[in-house]
Amino acid sequence: MAQSRQPPARPVFGSLVLIAVVIAGGAAAFAYTAGWFSPQRLTPDKFVDAFTPLTGPPLGHRRNHAKGICFTGVFEANGAGPALSHAQVFTRGQYPVLGRFNLGTPDPNAPDATVRVRGLGLRISPPDGQEWRSAMVNPPFFPVSTPQAFYELLLASGSKDPDAMKTFVATHPEFAAFGAWAKDGPWTGSYAEDRFNGLNSFVFTDGSGAEHTVRWSLLPTAQPVPVSHDELVKRGPDFLEQEIAERVRGAPQRWTMVVTVANPGDPTSDPSKAWPEDRRVVEVGTLIVQEIQPERDGPCRDINFDPTVLPSGMRTSDDPFPAARSSVYAKSFDRRTAEAKDYPRTATDTKP
Ligand code: HEM
Repeated sequence: MAQSRQPPARPVFGSLVLIAVVIAGGAAAFAYTAGWFSPQRLTPDKFVDAFTPLTGPPLGHRRNHAKGICFTGVFEANGAGPALSHAQVFTRGQYPVLGRFNLGTPDPNAPDATVRVRGLGLRISPPDGQEWRSAMVNPPFFPVSTPQAFYELLLASGSKDPDAMKTFVATHPEFAAFGAWAKDGPWTGSYAEDRFNGLNSFVFTDGSGAEHTVRWSLLPTAQPVPVSHDELVKRGPDFLEQEIAERVRGAPQRWTMVVTVANPGDPTSDPSKAWPEDRRVVEVGTLIVQEIQPERDGPCRDINFDPTVLPSGMRTSDDPFPAARSSVYAKSFDRRTAEAKDYPRTATDTKP
């Protein structure tokens, strides 16, 4: 006689509960990350949105520093850097560089003379594969002390309220120094004559394990020639790109990389505060820009110069900016790369 074989009872209910818990947990984590539980929280999405000009987002372009031009070259390490960091990029030698000269504006078509802040994105790639990425600017300090204050500055400067900037300045006294630089600081007629400052602080670890809190800058070897703003206006909307392309065609352009070491007690978490002039400075090498390429089809188009991409021997410090920048740059990168059709390439042999 055939025996009826009942499959053993399975704890179906228990499995369903487990699945529901896992899904609910994932959804809650997503909602938390997106800031849905805390609408006041500053998220990368809100930060990126705050850069949007009245004319709308620059589709396909970086959400800030949207106007730029690519370069390639080398970083020539002079062998002095290992006193501060054991990163391979400081071992004497030449390492390939990819970079981007840019202007601090969300408008990729802004006339050059209308933009006060100029920038330089840099990636140095030593053979051990541990890249050093950085994005530097020409002001000697940042306008504000915290990422939250920068967000508030963006909101105030884009506000229709005529008193918004006045209120912002009154509640952020550190902004005055930047305001004075923006008004009276010198202008040059060339990226090659500008000094670019990393502004944020980082911690270097040397071969003995000792730590050094540092900031870095690129000092032009070309003699800066101050030019009046009125004169720059006459040079046309894209004079910086044209000038640097022509200059580099004539000869490679060089900047000395200097690393400044903090003394105990220096403000390491606040990029709006410059360190005193007498701090230890180590010249670690030279950036040599050898070739300029337009951004549209160039190698710097689809890179994110995330300042937290650091080799072993360098790490972030108590400065809150690099982490904030990293999350916002990633959001900007995601948006612009998803909009590639709005900024079509012209060459057929480059990436889609
Ligand atoms: C919380 C503070 C900051 C925010 C939210 C912010 C935001 C942004 C965004 C959205 C981009 C475009 C990123 C991309 O699509 O790849 C960008 C680019 C850039 N930022 Fe910042 N930034 C901040 C602080 C700084 C600081 C302190 C510096 C300089 C020390 C700096 C220098 C630059 C430069 C040079 C670029 C252009 C890099 C490139 O060529 O791709 N930024 N920033």
